[in-house]
Amino acid sequence: MRRAICFLFLLLLSGSLLGQAVRYDEGRKIWLLSMGASSYAMGVDANNHLRHIYWGSHLWRTEDLTPPRPLRDGSSFDPKEMFENEEYAGWGGPRFYDAALKLVRADGNRDLVLQYASHSVSGNELHIRLKDIRDDINVTLHYRVYPSEGVLRRHSTIENNTRAPITVESAQSATWHLPAGEGYKLRYLTGRWAAETQLVEEPVHVGTKVLESRKGHTSHGINPWFSLDDGAAGEESGRVWFGALAWSGNWRITVEQTQYQQVRVTGGYNSFDFAYSLAPGETLETPAFFAGFTAGGYGAASRTLHRFERSQIFPGGLNARPRPVLYNSWEATTFNVDEPGQKALADKAASLGVELFVMDDGWFGERNHDRAGLGDWTVNPKKFPQGLKGLIDHVNAKGMEFGLWVEPEMVNADSDLYRAHPDWVIHFPDRPRSELRNQMVLNMARDDVREHIFKVLDKLATENNVRYFKWDMNRAVSEPGWPGEPLPEQRELWVKYVRNVYEIIDRLRAKHPTLEIESCSGGGGRVDLGILARSDVVWPSDNTEAFDRLRIQEGFTQAYAPQVMSAWVTDVPNMNRRSVPLKFRFLVAMQGALGIGANLNEWKEEDFTLARQMISLYKRIRPTVQQGALYRLMSPRHGEITANQYVAEDGKQAVLFVTRHAQQYNLPTPAIRLRGLDEKAVYKMEMLDGPPAMGRQQPQAPVSREVSGAYLMSQGLNVFLRGDYDSTAVMLERVR
Ligand code: DGJ
Repeated sequence: MRRAICFLFLLLLSGSLLGQAVRYDEGRKIWLLSMGASSYAMGVDANNHLRHIYWGSHLWRTEDLTPPRPLRDGSSFDPKEMFENEEYAGWGGPRFYDAALKLVRADGNRDLVLQYASHSVSGNELHIRLKDIRDDINVTLHYRVYPSEGVLRRHSTIENNTRAPITVESAQSATWHLPAGEGYKLRYLTGRWAAETQLVEEPVHVGTKVLESRKGHTSHGINPWFSLDDGAAGEESGRVWFGALAWSGNWRITVEQTQYQQVRVTGGYNSFDFAYSLAPGETLETPAFFAGFTAGGYGAASRTLHRFERSQIFPGGLNARPRPVLYNSWEATTFNVDEPGQKALADKAASLGVELFVMDDGWFGERNHDRAGLGDWTVNPKKFPQGLKGLIDHVNAKGMEFGLWVEPEMVNADSDLYRAHPDWVIHFPDRPRSELRNQMVLNMARDDVREHIFKVLDKLATENNVRYFKWDMNRAVSEPGWPGEPLPEQRELWVKYVRNVYEIIDRLRAKHPTLEIESCSGGGGRVDLGILARSDVVWPSDNTEAFDRLRIQEGFTQAYAPQVMSAWVTDVPNMNRRSVPLKFRFLVAMQGALGIGANLNEWKEEDFTLARQMISLYKRIRPTVQQGALYRLMSPRHGEITANQYVAEDGKQAVLFVTRHAQQYNLPTPAIRLRGLDEKAVYKMEMLDGPPAMGRQQPQAPVSREVSGAYLMSQGLNVFLRGDYDSTAVMLERVR
């Protein structure tokens, strides 16, 4: 009872301190948005321009904010409009920068000057309507505050209420302004096929840095996530502004420092080859752009995003079931799948404790290699004489669910589908149709193609006990023609393609509520918050080499939660011709959603024994890893040791993974200081490899196997790792 009263009191106190999520000071025309520990504010100036005024730690008084002041031109070359930090500028007037919206009217007039017109608040949402100074061209800026998660969502709706058509040439979701200054540091995720989500850092200087995809999918090359800090941030401290764009097609995020010390980030549809026509009365919605601020460093930024994604983005929300341990056939059998072979693998997988068996490529049409069959989604009767039923029943009888690989957006020239509908692929008439991996891209923007694909997948899910589709996409979009469609609507392909992919998944999920989706695009080519709103897990990379994965996973978890980070244990030698021990491979894969992708027919008995042990351990710590808070303690980019710690949501369990990549000069493993524990609590430690070797390499190691949070966080934990690719894990259970 006392605890309940206390809780109520704290709730009231925090309510009165934190105030409402959206507040409006009518007299001074200021909005203050409160996302828990951070705030964001904007106001209307005397010219009715909507201007950004604040983004940082939590503010509880609107009175502290100054309404946007009238500015003067700096010179005839530097008009005041350049200093104004408009929330969402139209390209018009003397604005010599990439504005958030650029359009052309039917008569060729391209000037657009947006002014505040009205606003409405409903709950945690604010909608601000802007209007052109002359025409009935409106933009609604949507803000949604997530106070418990510390995130702000923004996007815009562009509306043509004039009597003539307009063509939008650039449509951004939002511009985010940071406090003016210099010395910012930008972090982003770059890479390529088999080397995705590589974390890079660089100073921000005057000029514009463009992060983008022009490939029709999110891309392996750059992921739509950024973080900026004031130059002094680290993993666990410092001011960090971060954001992620929810779009799986051509996207762009620009990070800009102006000559006037403004720092801003603008993101939305990539304006490269972009055009979108709006007839009178039509609207265009831009993708959601999520962002947040923390004073707790990069670690807190990613924990904020992880928690937000779990509660607001991923299907199933916080109640989503933990990801099952998966087996995938690809690296074992490639295209050589058949019923007896898959059953044999399924038996072995089941004996390990695998819960979901996924048959990858090769099961349909004439798909005996990557030159034929894509598009023909009927079971190959030579490989599966009983259809899929024989295999699925077998898998189910072994207590596992069944998943199936599909690549719905693609077609091989050697396929019945292409022979029947050569016009369905994206192409320009009388021009070559590039084949990459021997395949072409179906024009998913077309309604007939969308309906065909929906029907195919719906049939597969209806007729078979398929719990899971691994939805792959193995090439990017080129020669983006849409014959038959009038110009400039042809260019709408970039947007409509993605919308239709989303629509198919949404409809499938609605019709088959237990169906799960893995998003894959030749590895991590389609990982973003748009696809993650309709996928349960993603395939971060075709590179399953465990040491390389450490850096891929470090980058991945900057933006995305471990719950959706599929990670397989595969065979060695792997990429780079590197061979690391099976235990190391397991301990790396157990830091995400564990899967096995090895050829189990080649495994020795001792491999099975170790795998059983590791999978059963994983099931004990799975909620902590998938749904807990991640602390990256030692980075694979620095030094020889990587250490990552996960703390359960309720604080009762924590797990530490430590991997050593190289042993040099016989140096011991340094003490690893844990984080996120309760200083006052006592934890029982369980070392994966038995108690540490006391007195040898860790003179200060605790003698007891019960240790306080205070000790673990300040003195740290010594683990004994010896030799290249040694690894271990430590489990901590809170005992009091
Ligand atoms: C690319 C994926 O990333 C692999 O995991 C596998 O599914 C192949 N495609 C199959 O063609």
